[in-house]
Amino acid sequence: MRAWNTSLLLLVAAMLLGAAIHTADARPTQLTVAAGFENPLGFHDAAPNFSWWLPQDGSVQRQTAYRLVVATSADRLPDRADLWDSGRVDSSDSVLVAYEGTPLKSRQRVYWQVQYWDENDRPSPWSETAHFELGLLSKTDWRAKWIRPKTKSHPRQEPVASLLRHFEIDREVAAARLYVTARGLFELNLNGSRVGDAYFANGWTSYHNRLDTLTYDVADQLKSGDNRLYARLGKGWYAGRIGWQDQYGVYGNDPELLLQLEILFTDGSSTVVVSDENWKGAWDGPIISSSIYDGEHYDARRQVTNWEEVNVDSNLGPAQLTPKPFAPVRITQKLDVKTITEPQPGRFVFDLGQNMVGWARIHIPVIKDQTITVRYAEMLNPDGTLYLDNYRTAKSINTYTAAESGLIEWEPTFTFHGFRYVELSGLLDGLAPQKRWVTGVVLHTDMQKAGTFESSHDKLNQLQSNIVWGQRGNFLDIPTDCPQRDERMGWTGDAQVFCATSMFNYDCLAFWKSWLGSMRDDQESDGRVPHVIPDALSRAGSPGWQDAATIVPWKLYVRTGDTEILARNYEMMKRLVGWYRSQATDGLITEITAFGDWLQPYAETNRGDTPAPLIGTAFYAYSAQILADSARVLKRDEDAERYAAEADFVRQAFANHYFDADMKLTNAPETQTGYLLAIAFELIGPDDQEKAAAHLVRLVNEADNHLRTGFLGTPHILPVLDQAGYPELAYELLLKETYPSWFYSINQGATTMWERWNSFSHENGFGDASMNSFNHYAYGAVGQWMAERVAGLAPDPRQPGYRHFYIQPQPGTPLTRARAEYRTPYGLAVSGWKKGADGLTIEATVPPNTTATLVVPTEGGMPTVIESGQRQELIQRKDRFELSLTPGHYNFTVTP
Ligand code: BGC
Repeated sequence: MRAWNTSLLLLVAAMLLGAAIHTADARPTQLTVAAGFENPLGFHDAAPNFSWWLPQDGSVQRQTAYRLVVATSADRLPDRADLWDSGRVDSSDSVLVAYEGTPLKSRQRVYWQVQYWDENDRPSPWSETAHFELGLLSKTDWRAKWIRPKTKSHPRQEPVASLLRHFEIDREVAAARLYVTARGLFELNLNGSRVGDAYFANGWTSYHNRLDTLTYDVADQLKSGDNRLYARLGKGWYAGRIGWQDQYGVYGNDPELLLQLEILFTDGSSTVVVSDENWKGAWDGPIISSSIYDGEHYDARRQVTNWEEVNVDSNLGPAQLTPKPFAPVRITQKLDVKTITEPQPGRFVFDLGQNMVGWARIHIPVIKDQTITVRYAEMLNPDGTLYLDNYRTAKSINTYTAAESGLIEWEPTFTFHGFRYVELSGLLDGLAPQKRWVTGVVLHTDMQKAGTFESSHDKLNQLQSNIVWGQRGNFLDIPTDCPQRDERMGWTGDAQVFCATSMFNYDCLAFWKSWLGSMRDDQESDGRVPHVIPDALSRAGSPGWQDAATIVPWKLYVRTGDTEILARNYEMMKRLVGWYRSQATDGLITEITAFGDWLQPYAETNRGDTPAPLIGTAFYAYSAQILADSARVLKRDEDAERYAAEADFVRQAFANHYFDADMKLTNAPETQTGYLLAIAFELIGPDDQEKAAAHLVRLVNEADNHLRTGFLGTPHILPVLDQAGYPELAYELLLKETYPSWFYSINQGATTMWERWNSFSHENGFGDASMNSFNHYAYGAVGQWMAERVAGLAPDPRQPGYRHFYIQPQPGTPLTRARAEYRTPYGLAVSGWKKGADGLTIEATVPPNTTATLVVPTEGGMPTVIESGQRQELIQRKDRFELSLTPGHYNFTVTP
């Protein structure tokens, strides 16, 4: 009895002791590798970075040390880690911590755990075990050969190839991995079911330089006896129609498949099935043709009968074969039909209520041999028929021909459409159309939602929704200008203006990094950057477009703290700046071909009124400054100095040439964008910026307080007015209802961002159809100001990745509240405000391991700020009042 009591006491004591060690109870969460990968299969990076969140339950403020353990099996963790044990590292780093263990190999499965010490030096419990498995990292891993049907296809047609292989399995399968890529688009079917959930695989890269491979676990799809592996290959971006006019086959004529299925049996033996001469091929099957621009034609009656040999190429080619470094396109949502109309006899129009990208899945009764035609449109003509002019030459039509009578369910495979309306024709007479006949299937690169914005203003909320849908519609493996007409390419200018906003909406770091890889691959030898990436046009060198090479890496770096982005793209930036230098005379670009301030309203041409040389010089200076800043971050001190001096020289030249002493634009027409670039890029000193801003305001006033900006000026107009001390004017423009403005398109029914401020109006109908996309994200760049100033959550470039950030709302009338939430690399951050009877309240959430500065909105003198009944001591800095915040949730009351 006594003995029992003693041991119980000891146990209790031990438990108490244990509790004392582990009071930082909550473990690290959100374990990711590289840019946001959770437990990936077919992972691309043999030298990965690790990230984790500290718990956000208030139990911990910051990390003072960590320990990472990495092993070849889960049961070795945490104490027998055989790949790497970092030991205790005294560091606050919890984001993108570099792996320093035993080099990793293709196919390797890796398990890891992490633990941290908090601000009181208390160790946390270990995290759950995370894992990843590498894909095939080197060409020598491949035993497969490139295959396609023996006969070549017609270069200007887009048939779909079928490839088939049967193989036997006579033992029990322990594990199976299927590694695959294509020159073109592939879809695989194993024993009757689709392999994986990726669409438009392997995506669009600079194919001559890099082909992404995908990895699937197919163990559950294999069976004993005969197995049937069937592949479809579409020409897609590789060999189909893409680019301007009638361009086919940018990269090649015929799609090809490279596939390797590695099977491990429970008895320890293994086998490999690869693409090789043992396959059969045909330009045949139910998909008669499939084209990204023109749509897909499906005849269910057609099965492949004329199987032939395959063409085999054992030379893997010059392009790198590497696991896809970001998520593939997936189905992310399905939209139901809102209404059905019949504007013409037998043509039924289904309205999904939202402009979207993907396709319509049809689910309808048919009779044998009947052909259903599916057409798409973003808008309707006044008579209710489809408005198709803005698709230009993209046909965007699907047809389905039935093999049997009955209810069919069908969707296309290798094409996509930008649309809100779906028209069905060729239906059975006398059937009343049903809403369930059509489903809008939304497809885009799979990204985790990062930020939300919400306010008291319905139209502002609609604008945020339009921005997000603009992103969803145009992040289909690469950032595109538009998803519907005969274009859909990676326009660099659009991308650079929208990049920052896109990172607020979604965690798309990995997506951008991949695209920058293609940009590096496709940069011209003289340093110019192509207009579109991947380069399908062979044209390059427009200022404001090619500067995506500096601007995108920098914006990503500021929002993630990922210095690798700067390191990887540094040479590309250098070469671009070098090209500008080669074009400049005494720091000025005097002649350059440019898209200009594209689609500026009331301009003579699409290229706007701001002269190309002014834009060229401005972007030269800005890119040189980013290069200098990047060199500083990368500790390349000599470069940093040299490029800072170069940027300075160009700024001087710019200021001297274009401005008079009163900072009025003189050597060029006065345009809003001329002033905006000078101020936003800090091409003139702070005092001069103030003077220039006064001229800008005059121009805005002369335009009856409307913007007169195109693609390049628009992203800057609100931030510049705000910073220069005109926040009310910025709000007025943001909330303006008349043309040109953001709400103008909403008043005309927009559910996405439009290419033109007046792509359509109730009064005047449709804009110039040659350039009239209803899903063009560029003007959605305003989302950045909404997040960072209306709601008030902004990164700090000096402590990137939200290590430190600002809560800096600028409340504006008539809004009574606004709020943003954002998943920073460290945890969830919030900035919100509300105006009430007793003044202004501000809500702030600061994640663990970060700090924030509240910049208190004020009109005039020092405000009083109360939090939890306590008056807070503010710090006065020039014209603003600040409060330093440590991790936690806050509710402040502000009174003037
Ligand atoms: C695209 C744009 C692009 C522009 C270049 C257009 O056709 O749709 O968004 O940036 O060309 O000026």
